[in-house]
Amino acid sequence: MELSVGGEYGIVIDAVGAEQFAWLRERAYAGWVLIMDEETERYCLPRIERYLGSTPLVKIVVPAGERHKHLDTCKFIWEEMFRGGVGRRWCCLNLGGGVIGDMGGFAAGTFKRGIDFVQIPTTLLSQVDASVGGKLGIDFYEVKNSIGLFANPQAVWVDAGFLGTLPEREIRSGYAEIIKHALIADEQQWSELRDIKDIRGLDWPAVIERSVDIKRQVVLKDPFERGIRKALNFGHTIGHAVESYFLHREDRLLHGEAIAIGMITESWLSHETGDLSAAALDDIRDYCLRVYGHQHVPEASFPVLLDLMRQDKKNDTEAINFTFLEKPGEAVVNKTATADMITRSLAYYNSLGS
Ligand SMILES: NC(=O)c1ccc[n+]([C@@H]2O[C@H](COP(=O)([O-])OP(=O)(O)OC[C@H]3O[C@@H](n4cnc5c(N)ncnc54)[C@H](O)[C@@H]3O)[C@@H](O)[C@H]2O)c1
Ligand SMILES: [Zn+2]
Repeated sequence: MELSVGGEYGIVIDAVGAEQFAWLRERAYAGWVLIMDEETERYCLPRIERYLGSTPLVKIVVPAGERHKHLDTCKFIWEEMFRGGVGRRWCCLNLGGGVIGDMGGFAAGTFKRGIDFVQIPTTLLSQVDASVGGKLGIDFYEVKNSIGLFANPQAVWVDAGFLGTLPEREIRSGYAEIIKHALIADEQQWSELRDIKDIRGLDWPAVIERSVDIKRQVVLKDPFERGIRKALNFGHTIGHAVESYFLHREDRLLHGEAIAIGMITESWLSHETGDLSAAALDDIRDYCLRVYGHQHVPEASFPVLLDLMRQDKKNDTEAINFTFLEKPGEAVVNKTATADMITRSLAYYNSLGS
């Protein structure tokens, strides 16, 4: 199955194999750079290694994890590219999760003013979200994705087979973006997901395809996030703040776990200050709690969370911006909420745990 992104590149949803590499070989690159982290080298490289053939190859392995999505790691990547004799007519293959996709794409998109790259996302989050939409970058001064660029890959190869080695907690985390995509744009998928008791039994290629398609359509309408693309921020205003707050604690949350809290609180705001019905709020709340459980958010953190939301780069003014739901499957952008309402939404969330 292949989804075209505005005729510019294709998202292939299939096992990565001879077909994709034949396509790549036809493009007659001078060589390939394969960027991965230590984990994806171990778990994912074996799935594609046999297709690499005799094309000149520069393999670059970096340490795994968000804290390495950093300029120092990029410098290492660029150095290795220079040392390997990589030129303008080479292509980078980014084999890994969102960290490798964002950073490998950034390294490629800036090397010698930009060389081609292909995304081979290996986590659920990167398959349905990070690998589509052209946003590339690294963290700087502890601010996520603060240095980067927009650039499209030559292709995205989404192979659900990679998920076989991904820890279950990472799968559940990525699944939050699937819930989000359904809630903002696909009522039908939302109602199907709600009936699923155990996500381990899901038909991943089918679920991923539908979810990627939502993201694809949104970014096609608004590639540079001036309007409707902000719909993708649903659950992320409060969710990001909660994620940052828990980052420095023992019980740190994965991205999707924080986004689940964001989706519940922002649904509450959508109901209290907007059009979302009480029944829809209850459904979203129940489903997110069923999949993610409940994590108490200390009341003492509320002012810190508000500060974090105010600093969020997406806020041009004092008011805190939100994407709300009008109903499942329909989002509305450029909404705002007061500090008092946000505090109340967090108190509502905490009350669900008792
Ligand atoms: N560009 C975008 O539009 C966009 C969108 C959403 C998120 N992101 C970015 O994505 C990043 C998070 O991505 P992520 O959740 O994929 O994290 P990640 O890349 O750190 O991967 C999570 C962990 O899983 C390991 N791993 C990856 N694939 C594996 C596999 N198949 N089997 C076993 N282990 C595997 C990795 O080595 C890593 O340790 C963040 O930096 C975020 O900013 C970008
Ligand atoms: Zn997200």
